[in-house]
Formats: sequence, structure tokens, C-alpha cells
Amino acid sequence: MTRFARITGTGSFLPPRRVSNQDLVNQLAALGVETSDEWIVERTGIQARHFVDDHTHTSDLAFEASCRALRAAGRQPQDLDLIIVATSTPDMVFPSTASILQRKLAQLDAASAGIAGCAAFDVQAVCTGFVYALSVADAMIRAGNARCALVVGAETFSRLLDFNDRTTCVLFGDGAGAVVLEASERPGIAACDLHADGRHVDILCVPGHVHNGQVTGDPVLKMDGQAVFKLAVGLLEGAALKALAQAGWQAQDIDWLIPHQANIRIITSTARKLKLPMERVMLTVHDHGNTSAASIPLALDHGVRAGQIKPGQKLLLEGVGGGFTWGAVALTL
Ligand code: ACO
Repeated sequence: MTRFARITGTGSFLPPRRVSNQDLVNQLAALGVETSDEWIVERTGIQARHFVDDHTHTSDLAFEASCRALRAAGRQPQDLDLIIVATSTPDMVFPSTASILQRKLAQLDAASAGIAGCAAFDVQAVCTGFVYALSVADAMIRAGNARCALVVGAETFSRLLDFNDRTTCVLFGDGAGAVVLEASERPGIAACDLHADGRHVDILCVPGHVHNGQVTGDPVLKMDGQAVFKLAVGLLEGAALKALAQAGWQAQDIDWLIPHQANIRIITSTARKLKLPMERVMLTVHDHGNTSAASIPLALDHGVRAGQIKPGQKLLLEGVGGGFTWGAVALTL
């Protein structure tokens, strides 16, 4: 009997503080930085994003999203044997945010303490992180190394932003999304296609690091927006087509494209290349901004809870981000 990995529950969480473009325009004006709602909407499609407060960590967002995904799957923390968190904004240098999340889930109640001992680690592939994490969990389940996995994308990207740099600080937001992925005899994940090209490390990076007890380098996000844009548009189509070919599907078979929510212009361009109408593209970028590794599971959960994405439908997830990394996953929900 072929063993598959199937998503059995989704969940997501956004920090309560919603920052509209106008809120950001006002905040930046106080710093002498000029931007406008019109510019942000026209160039990116973003109207608002959510930011954490000073006391909230990535693992807190991951915890809320995970609890919702577990409830949707009808699972308890102690049922899990694998936790993978995709993030570029971990709570600490180490241990992993996945380990911290495991501890928070273990503290839910007496039975949940049974989660202790399950494998837990982070995946760092920036905005492609969730696609990478899902692919790793799929491989571990199909190899028989795990049966019930929690796969999370969680970010507090607001912590990495330079609010004096209007070309980047208007683009990003905070949030988390999670799925429960289980071994199944029914097909779920049909194909994964992952890539990285380290020649482009410098076009999107946070070049700071800890050195002798000090942060050395510049610990804020740096991006060559136009270089990222050009690479993203070309690479996403290739990954999507490869995942589709591997699954034996045509683009027309896809019920929903769930792209990384970086910029509406990148998303529409990919949809056009795949000849997919925008009615079949899940969009949250207007309300969430770019939440990096959290954006795909956030959009997935948003569509599921809105009743738009339904069990049995064919989905194509695709991400692109720093590294440069990119990839796609084709799956039946
Ligand atoms: N408000 C007003 N004006 C601005 C702003 C702003 N927030 N930002 C830039 N501008 C100005 C620039 O200064 C420039 O002015 P100039 O012509 O007088 O020099 C003008 O707008 C055009 O700037 P461009 O950089 O050419 O604008 P572009 O159309 O390329 O849009 C953007 C910039 C939105 C960043 C675009 O390049 C983009 O979306 N790139 C991809 C970004 C992306 O997807 N990143 C995430 C990858 S995922 C990850 O791994 C984190």
C-alpha cells in the first residue's frame, strides 16, 4: 500500500495590531520618510499588515496557529511525532523555535505533556520556508519516520525592518500559519520541487550576526527589489510547471494556486503564465502584506475557513525568497 502524507487540519494567527497603509504613512512621516497609500497599493497590492507588540515572539504566533490546526485535525499535541517550524525570525539564535513551540504545547494540559520527545527543528529558507518544511515532512512521513507532523510557518518580520527605508518597510508583516500533515492511504501531497541559488545571497538578506556578544553587521532587511522581482517571476513558473509535471497534472487541473504573498504583480504575472484565472488564486497580500514563511499557510487557512478551499480540491503552493530559494508543492486536500 502506497503511503501518502495528507493535510488533515489548518490554522493561522495574526497579531491583533492591524497597521493600515495610512497608519504606516503617518508613522514614517514622523521619521521624515515619505510614502503614500497610493504608491504602496499600486506597486504591491498591500493595504494593511499586522505587527506584533514588543512582548510577542514568533513562537507565540506559531503556538496560536498550531492550536487551531490541531483542533481542525481533531488531534492533540501528544499525537504529534514531528514539529517543523519554517522561520527567519526565530525567538533565539538557539534552541529552535520548534523546540520552544513544543514546550508551549506540552504545557497546555497534563495529557499534552506527552508531546515531549517528538522530533522538532526549524527550517530556514526565508519566504520559501513553508514549502521546504512541507516537503521535508512529506518525505519523512513517506519514509515511515513520522506519522503525524505539525508544519508551521511563523514570522515576526517587523523586527527586521528599517523604518527609514521606505523601499522595504512597507512590504512586510507578522503572522503564522500551520498544518497537521498525517500518514494516509489516500493521496495528499503529490509532488514537491525545491531549489536554491546561492549566487543571489546578497539581493535579499539581513546581513547582521552575533559576534563576541555583539551584533556585528547590519541586522535589518536589505533588498534589491527589482532584482528580486525579475528573478521571482521567472523562477516561480518553472517550479510550478515541474511540480505539476511530477504530479501528472495540467495547470488547468488546479482548483487553487496558493502563492507566496509578496506582491500582487508577481502573483498575477505567475497566474498569467500558468493561464490560471485570478478567481483560482488565493490572495491575502492586500490584508497581510508579505509575512515570509507564514504567508502560504496563512493564505491556505484563510481560504479553508472562508469555505473557498474544500477537501478533495487540487492545490498548487509556490514560494520564492531569500537565498535565493524557490519551490512548489502540488497536493490534493
Ligand atoms: N513610497 C513611495 N515611493 C517609493 C517607495 C515607497 N514606499 N519605495 C520606493 N519608492 C520610489 C523609489 O524611490 C523610486 O523613486 P525614483 O524613481 O524617484 O528613484 C520609485 O519609487 C520606483 O522605485 P522602484 O524600486 O523602481 O519601484 P518598483 O516598481 O520596482 O517597486 C518593489 C518596488 C515593490 C519593492 C518591487 O520591486 C517588488 O515588489 N520587488 C519584489 C519584492 C519582493 O517580492 N520581495 C520579497 C521576496 S520574499 C523574501 O524572501 C523576504
